[in-house]
Amino acid sequence: MSADEPPAAAPPDGPASSGPATKFELERETELRLEVEGPAPTRVELVSGLAEVFGTELTRNKRYTFPPGSRAAVFTWHGCTVQLWGSPDVAYVSRDTPMLLYLNAHVGLEQMRAQAEREAERGPRVLVAGPGDVGKSTLCRLLLNYAVRRGRRPTLVELDVGQGSVSVPGTVGALCVERPADVEEGFSAQAPLVYHFGSTTPGTNIKLYNKVRGGGDPDTGYTSHPDPPTPSPPDPLSPHTRISPTLGSPPHSDLPHTRISPTLGSPPHSDLPHTRISPTL
Ligand SMILES: Nc1ncnc2c1ncn2[C@@H]1O[C@H](COP(=O)(O)OP(=O)(O)OP(=O)(O)O)[C@@H](O)[C@H]1O
Ligand SMILES: [Mg+2]
Repeated sequence: MSADEPPAAAPPDGPASSGPATKFELERETELRLEVEGPAPTRVELVSGLAEVFGTELTRNKRYTFPPGSRAAVFTWHGCTVQLWGSPDVAYVSRDTPMLLYLNAHVGLEQMRAQAEREAERGPRVLVAGPGDVGKSTLCRLLLNYAVRRGRRPTLVELDVGQGSVSVPGTVGALCVERPADVEEGFSAQAPLVYHFGSTTPGTNIKLYNKVRGGGDPDTGYTSHPDPPTPSPPDPLSPHTRISPTLGSPPHSDLPHTRISPTLGSPPHSDLPHTRISPTL
């Protein structure tokens, strides 16, 4: 099956891991999009080439399980063949992928880290914000994966008390990421730093929220910065998800001004050979 064909008819029902497999040949810079509503999981195996799911490389000849409720994309930079078992509601190959934008964001951050190292300063901090269910956590996962694959040790901070990505809902948490996320399980959450907030909505006690999320005036949340953040202009990266690096300054001061854009630094492809995400990392 090739890129941008209409969504494939799902393979016939049957035991998800032992029924007939559907083979997908992915050209370079394409992705296999999956949506699994259920009731059975879908399994995917990389047969040849290189592929990744949200920045985690797939191991060849290993079957990965996507349970009901999953939405995922198996992306390849260089081309690959994957096999699929099960009856996903959606399974098709697409050239229309945000991965180049994501890679550009990673490259921009990597340049900032290199600069911070040269100048013995603190590396970039990135705030990812946007409406619900648009891919914020996935973008964080991908940027963390790429950073850790380049030998960095990034920190994931979950400020959304409605989520339980680092600990349980109702908390604010931070996690030092030392290895890429497991495709099925996500990041290893050993020894996270977690503060109890006690509600899944910051507005129930904004003073306490500002205190547990760290620093600043508990009433306003701002850290010695005279002006509150102003509304930001539309973001060039995506209509939904905003990525704002806050390099070396109090959390809010850079937000309206500094933005990672797809055009940061050199043109996207000229960075690719240098920032190649090595499969052996
Ligand atoms: N680039 C992508 N390709 C395919 N699926 C994606 C992509 N980004 C996100 N998804 C899927 O979309 C769903 C929502 O993504 P995610 O959880 O990252 O959104 P979110 O903005 O963090 O949501 P919430 O507001 O609930 O925190 C997930 O199932 C995720 O796997
Ligand atoms: Mg999320």
